[in-house]
Amino acid sequence: MYEDTPYPTDIREYLYKILVIGDLSTGKTSIIKRYVHNIFSMNYKSTIGVDFALKVIQWSPDTVIRMQLWDIAGQEKFSGLTRVYYKEAVAALVVYDVTRPKTFEAVPKWKSDLDTKVSLPGGEPIPVVLLANKIDLQEEGSASLDEEEMDRFCEENGILKWFGTSAKDNSNIDDAARFLLEEIMNREVEHANQQAQDAAAMAGRIQLNQPSAKEGCC
Ligand code: GTP
Ligand code: MG
Repeated sequence: MYEDTPYPTDIREYLYKILVIGDLSTGKTSIIKRYVHNIFSMNYKSTIGVDFALKVIQWSPDTVIRMQLWDIAGQEKFSGLTRVYYKEAVAALVVYDVTRPKTFEAVPKWKSDLDTKVSLPGGEPIPVVLLANKIDLQEEGSASLDEEEMDRFCEENGILKWFGTSAKDNSNIDDAARFLLEEIMNREVEHANQQAQDAAAMAGRIQLNQPSAKEGCC
């Protein structure tokens, strides 16, 4: 009776909690609003505590990803509450403002705050991508970000990659999010493979411990 149902039955759905952190007024909320609703405003309204947004992505014909974005107020900087907010996150975007060097200097502190308070189920650090935001404000002719220096900075701080972004001009935000999702998905596959290997090894060990037919008792 239900054989001709038009609904595909083998859709895989993933829900990922992703943190967006960084100093005050670096553009975290603006980046999320641009990414999720494609809107931008120059009015600054500081986030209090934490805010949430959901972005649903049709990743492939049979895979849907729900990104639960946790927009954590810059004023929560290393407060006792970040441990609560970070719980069960699988990735993070760390944002700084290219016009304010102090917000860049704070990036390693945000990264180590993350590493001490959250990790993946296997114990590894969660994947982190750095967003150098407000690149639209870099004055024309002024030195742009030194790519090599930025790459080195990321490597030294255990950050996977950096992107120069602008929430105002909608630059590079989609690319950064896509890169982060690919990293999350790769880790998910690795973790599943590891678990399958562990299960197979365990099954082998159980078989070895079984008494053979000859040794069988009465
Ligand atoms: P907190 O919630 O206080 O931690 O700040 P936030 O990081 O969420 O910053 P928010 O997104 O509220 O942006 C702060 C200010 O920067 C606002 O006035 C935004 O309009 C502005 N802004 C954000 N992103 C950009 C950008 O890419 N370019 C420019 N020119 N302004 C931006
Ligand atoms: Mg905010």
